[in-house]
Amino acid sequence: YPTELIRNFSIIAHVDHGKSTLADRLLELTGTIKRGHGQPQYLDKLQVERERGITVKAQTATMFHKHKIIGLDDTSTQEPQSFLLNLIDTPGHVDFSYEVSRSLAACQGALLVVDAAQGVQAQTVANFYLAFESNLAIIPVINKIDQPTADPDRVKAQLKSMFDLDPSSALLTSAKTGQGLEQVLPAVIERIPPPPGKSESPLRMLLLDSYFDEYKGVICHVAVVDGALRKGDKISSVATGQSYEILDVGIMHPELRPTGVLLTGQVGYVVTGMRTTKEARVGDTLFHHRTTVDPLPGFKPAKHMVFSGLYPADGSDFEALNNAIERLTCNDASVCVAKESSTALGLGFRCGFLGLLHMDVFHQRLEQEYGTHIISTVPTVPYIFEYSDGSKVTIQNPAALPSNTKQRVVACWEPTVLATIIIPSEYVGPVITLCSERRGEQLEYSFIDSQRAFMKYRLPLREIVVDFYNELKSITSGYASFDYEDADYQASDLVKLDILLNGQPVDAMAAIVHNLKAQRVGRELVEKLKKHIDRQMFEITIQAAIGSKIIARDTVSAMRKNVLAKCYGGDVSRKRKLLEKQKEGKKRMKRIGSVDIPQEAFHELLKVS
Ligand code: GTP
Repeated sequence: YPTELIRNFSIIAHVDHGKSTLADRLLELTGTIKRGHGQPQYLDKLQVERERGITVKAQTATMFHKHKIIGLDDTSTQEPQSFLLNLIDTPGHVDFSYEVSRSLAACQGALLVVDAAQGVQAQTVANFYLAFESNLAIIPVINKIDQPTADPDRVKAQLKSMFDLDPSSALLTSAKTGQGLEQVLPAVIERIPPPPGKSESPLRMLLLDSYFDEYKGVICHVAVVDGALRKGDKISSVATGQSYEILDVGIMHPELRPTGVLLTGQVGYVVTGMRTTKEARVGDTLFHHRTTVDPLPGFKPAKHMVFSGLYPADGSDFEALNNAIERLTCNDASVCVAKESSTALGLGFRCGFLGLLHMDVFHQRLEQEYGTHIISTVPTVPYIFEYSDGSKVTIQNPAALPSNTKQRVVACWEPTVLATIIIPSEYVGPVITLCSERRGEQLEYSFIDSQRAFMKYRLPLREIVVDFYNELKSITSGYASFDYEDADYQASDLVKLDILLNGQPVDAMAAIVHNLKAQRVGRELVEKLKKHIDRQMFEITIQAAIGSKIIARDTVSAMRKNVLAKCYGGDVSRKRKLLEKQKEGKKRMKRIGSVDIPQEAFHELLKVS
């Protein structure tokens, strides 16, 4: 395929506006997959994706479509030509915008899908700007026009006022009934330019993604930017300097189909001798061995927004968890992992994630795909602390911070985000209240049309990772949409909150909180823990402390076994002995401090902000 006949495009949208369904329909329309293949959402391959109905990993598929380009000189006599179309499906949730920007790097155009009833939402805005900044041709697609509440004209007006997109350029579709779908591929071919690469230049290809296949080993998804690649070629990596032989090369159609060659502008897969996906650095430039090329711009490295500890639920399963994490991170390079140990939980890992959903998905995949049982600790965001000796450290685990911060810390900073919130105008009041409770600073407030308000806030990241979105949804009856991008660090007043069980600090439960909120958070944490710790044979004291100051305290009383029950008659000294023994027992238990804490307690802690 000459590059003029290739189009690389992506579908971007707010979550649930119908990207994956539309992608399925296009694959069916081109005969790439059979109609009614029995699996809804073909490109959502992972079990967690099907269960949650969300796309997590971007997937790619090649389709072929015959089309006659109108406007060429001899249209009447021209035969329709076969075009090679690469569709890159992208995840819609905010945590996965990293995957979205990666996908866009291999595209020249994007279908911007907007729900005809819901209109422009927060992620529509975020995704539009990602595509716009990458200079992509944008085709607006107003989907779900079959719904009774669909109002395509209103959506067209929003597209015009927010993005200056020509209302007449919008396609109206229903991915459900099939209405309007026939216009989509012709629009892709006519409005999106072919890839700009030079076929006569030396090979440069961008490594988009990689995963581990049990039979073939590491499979890399690549976009050939310049030149061509053939089976048997020797290639090198800019990032690692390693060289490999191309053992297999082909396209995703949508299953792997060997073609022996990939030409300029094509997107496909390669199998090399790579043993682990660690060698396959996403964003890397691959080139022919012994040639010199300028590296491609690559990607911004993934930024980890939340960190949490992962421990085997049963101490002996450490190796199993280690293996599972190693294999799963092969498939999800955006998670960072370091070993750590906790006095309370033993050996485990500190993992960094792009967001809470990303973290949840990772946990779920560990349990479902690898059968592990884990305990995860309260997620925290990366704070920066400056100590009195002038050193600055990034703290990803609250336990690593000395308890008496007042003595040693001279300054601290916390990460913030720029949040976009779109809501029906009647909810403006409650949303403003929520954002100020969460220490937000309003940056922008305007109206998209007569019914919808648009707000921009700077918020501390810590305030949104914990339950912000749910709260926002509940105060707006589910109508709010929300998206954020990471912004700078800002100076803050932070303290370490320790949780003590029977006087012993539990490192895995320590948290870093804002000074103004410390009292309330401390009380809530103690309350939550009390609910979840079962009564045991001895009394359990739960305390929250800042430095040496206890700010909240409660107890779980002991189950009092009536040791005197068997003691008939009136032998006082025997009774006393038994009671004495019981007290001894309790003390011993206290000393050991073997309090059983269920995982739910950790989950509950997560919800306190
Ligand atoms: P993510 O993969 O999570 O980002 O979502 P998505 O944007 O891919 O949305 P998806 O395709 O999963 O569709 C969301 C829901 O909308 C599904 O229940 C679809 O069946 C439904 N849906 C998609 N297109 C249409 C349509 O044209 N009309 C109607 N009525 N429903 C649709």
